[in-house]
Amino acid sequence: MTSSDRNFPNDFVWGTSSSAFQIEGATREDGRGESVWDRFCARSGAIADHSNADIACDHYHRYSEDIDLMAALGTQAYRFSLAWPRIIPDGHGAINADGIDFYDRLIDRLLAAGIEPWICLHHWDLPQAIEDRGGWRNRDTADWFGEYTAVVAGKFSDRVRRFAPINEPNVLIWVGYNAGIHAPGQRPRDECIAAIHHINLAHGKAIKSLRDVDADLICGNIVTMAPVVAPGSAADQIAAAELTDCLWRRVMVDPLMLGRYPDLLADEIAPYILDDDMALISQPLDFFGLNHYNRLYAAQDPSCSFGVGETSPPEGVATTDMGWQIDGLALLEQLRDVRDRYNNPEIYVTENGAAFPDEQNSAGQVIDQPRVDFLYEYLCAVHDAIGEGIKVRGYFEWSLLDNFEWSLGYSKRFGLVHVDYATQKRTPKSSFWYLKEVFAANELLPPTRDYRP
Ligand code: FCB
Repeated sequence: MTSSDRNFPNDFVWGTSSSAFQIEGATREDGRGESVWDRFCARSGAIADHSNADIACDHYHRYSEDIDLMAALGTQAYRFSLAWPRIIPDGHGAINADGIDFYDRLIDRLLAAGIEPWICLHHWDLPQAIEDRGGWRNRDTADWFGEYTAVVAGKFSDRVRRFAPINEPNVLIWVGYNAGIHAPGQRPRDECIAAIHHINLAHGKAIKSLRDVDADLICGNIVTMAPVVAPGSAADQIAAAELTDCLWRRVMVDPLMLGRYPDLLADEIAPYILDDDMALISQPLDFFGLNHYNRLYAAQDPSCSFGVGETSPPEGVATTDMGWQIDGLALLEQLRDVRDRYNNPEIYVTENGAAFPDEQNSAGQVIDQPRVDFLYEYLCAVHDAIGEGIKVRGYFEWSLLDNFEWSLGYSKRFGLVHVDYATQKRTPKSSFWYLKEVFAANELLPPTRDYRP
C-alpha cells in the first residue's frame, strides 16, 4: 500500500459517541425526572458492581473540560444523546427549562470548539412515568416521543442539523425485553412484539416531527448490526439462528428501509399495525447509522422470551474484556450486508470500540496497546469497505470517556480517556494519541508506533 492508498476520503467525518445516562450523572439535579435506568439500577442484583449512574462521569458539570478533550483529539463531530427525562420529566407535558439550558450550553460550547453536534434523541433512558403507563408496550408512547422530538427540534435545530431518533432499538428489545438484562427488564413475547412495532412507529413519528420543524434537517437511524452465527447445523439450531437474525438485525431495520416486517415475525406483528404506520416508519432517511461490535453467536435459550439468546464465541478466538470476538472482517461483512440489502445508503459507523482492563502505570499513563490494535483492525475494515464502493462517510469511536456500561456498571472501560471515578480525573490513553494522529492525517496509521502526548 502506498501512503495515498491509506487515506480516507477528504470529507470523511471523524468523531466520538456517547450517551446521556452513561456519562452525565446529576440524575436528581435541576428538575430531571426519573428514568427506567435509574429504577433498574436500584433493583437488587441488576448491576454487576452494584453501582448506579447518579454521578457517572459527572459530565453534566464537567462538559466543558470534556469538550476540551474532544478538541484536543481533533474531533470533527460529536454524537451524543439527550435525556428525555431531563427535558420533559414526565415524558410528556411540562418542559423543564433547566434541562433545555444544559443542552443549550453543551451545544454552544461544542460549536465554539468547532465540533459539529449530532443528536440522538433517545438512548434507552425512558422516563419512568412513561414506563408506568406501559412504556413501549403502549402505542401512546410513540406519540409522546413524537411530541418530545418536536420540542427538541424547535429548540436546537437552529444550531444542530443531524438527528437520529433512537439508539439501537434492537438491543433494547433483545437485551432488555427478551433477555431481561437491561431496563425495563424481561417481558413476555407478546409484549416484546407490541414494543417492536411501537418503537418503529416512534422512529417514524420522530422523523416526521423533525421534518415538520425543518424539512432540511439531516435524519437517520442508529442500529447495531453484526453477522449471526448458528450454534450448530441441526434444524432447530438453524431455526434459532434465523429467529435471532430476525430479532437482532432485521425487525428494526427492514420496516424502515424496506417498508415491511421480515416474514418470520410479520403475522405476529400485523395486529398492531394501523393504516398509515408503515408509510410513517419507512420515510426515506438521509443516512444509515451503523453501530458495530461483534459477530453474534446465537443460542437456544429457554430463559429468554423468544427462546433464543446469545452465547460466547468459540474457544481460542481473541476477545475484548466484554468477551466479544475481535474480528474486523465481521464489520466488513456487515457493511456489505447493509449495502446489498438496503440499497447502498450513506453509512456512518456511529459506534465501534472495545473494553479492555486498562490500568494506570506508576507514571500515571494508560498504555492501552490492545485498543490501538483493535482500532487499527476495524479502521482497516472501514477502509476496505470504502475501496469496495460502500458509502461509509464517517466513523464515531465509542467512546471518549470510560463510562457506566449498563448492567456491567463501571467494571468495563471503553474510553479513549481513562476516568478515575474517585477523583473524576481524566487521563488520555495511548489510543487517544493514536486516533488523534489518524484524525489529523485522515489516514490509516500503523498501530505499531509508540503513541503518546
Ligand atoms: C452499545 C451501546 C452503548 C455502549 C456500547 C458498548 O450497544 O449503544 O451505549 O454501551 O454498546
